[in-house]
Amino acid sequence: MGNVLLQMEDVSYSYHHQIVLENVTLSVEEGQFLGIVGPNGSGKSTLLKIALGVLQPKKGKVWLFGSPMKDQKQNYNIGYVSQKSNSFQRDFPATVQEVVAAGLASKKGILRRYMKKDYLLVDEVLEQVGIQDLRKRNIGQLSGGQQQRVFIARALISKPKLLILDEPTVGIDRDSTKQFYDLLNYLHKQHGLTLIMVTHDIGVVSSLVDQVACLNKKLYFHGTRSLFVEKEKELLSKAYNHDVQVIDHHH
Ligand SMILES: Nc1ncnc2c1ncn2[C@@H]1O[C@H](COP(=O)(O)OP(=O)(O)OP(=O)(O)O)[C@@H](O)[C@H]1O
Ligand SMILES: [Mg+2]
Repeated sequence: MGNVLLQMEDVSYSYHHQIVLENVTLSVEEGQFLGIVGPNGSGKSTLLKIALGVLQPKKGKVWLFGSPMKDQKQNYNIGYVSQKSNSFQRDFPATVQEVVAAGLASKKGILRRYMKKDYLLVDEVLEQVGIQDLRKRNIGQLSGGQQQRVFIARALISKPKLLILDEPTVGIDRDSTKQFYDLLNYLHKQHGLTLIMVTHDIGVVSSLVDQVACLNKKLYFHGTRSLFVEKEKELLSKAYNHDVQVIDHHH
């Protein structure tokens, strides 16, 4: 067994009195790519926020990089791309390199000025995600797919061990989505990055990721992709409470 990066044990969460997560036990090992699926409102984003330490579980425990969550304070070293991050106003006054450099702010403290070496880092991650030619462009003028790469770059600049993505391809066309998945695959395979991605794209779950979690308040399934594929129909109809149309994607 590899190093466990994230461990949740018996985690429950509720907003006011509405229980949205119930006794979730889940672990992610170093180098894994976990896909999380489940219907709208099933607690997926909430689970990610607990992993990030943005929300505290009402019950249960969370360990990150081997230490209990509480002890880690702000220094988690996790990259995060939130749901609907690729919807900047067209006139948002920041360039690509400024948005990416902002990913260093949490490390540097908001008032520190950027140095030459910071911009070298910016160039490095922009190259990694394949958009170095866009670095002086205004963020609002990029396409959704290009913006998504900017956000990945921003999340990668602090060199996280774990990258968490919440439905990163919503609103992005088929070709850009394919390229985006190629990028994730490259980061996973070539850089050994550990990834957790929430997605509604069941096809990608059965081809790109290596572990799957199926969530609807409770965890209905957590295991390898091949086991998921084997039980897919049964699992999904249980978790979604009805039969879903499974669209086959080829990657
Ligand atoms: N800040 C909040 N205050 C109150 N209720 C919330 C809050 N955030 C989420 N909820 C509720 O908690 C439940 C789970 O929400 P969550 O965002 O985790 O679902 P999700 O699985 O990410 O859904 P989607 O696929 O639509 O993004 C939903 O019923 C939602 O309405
Ligand atoms: Mg969500």
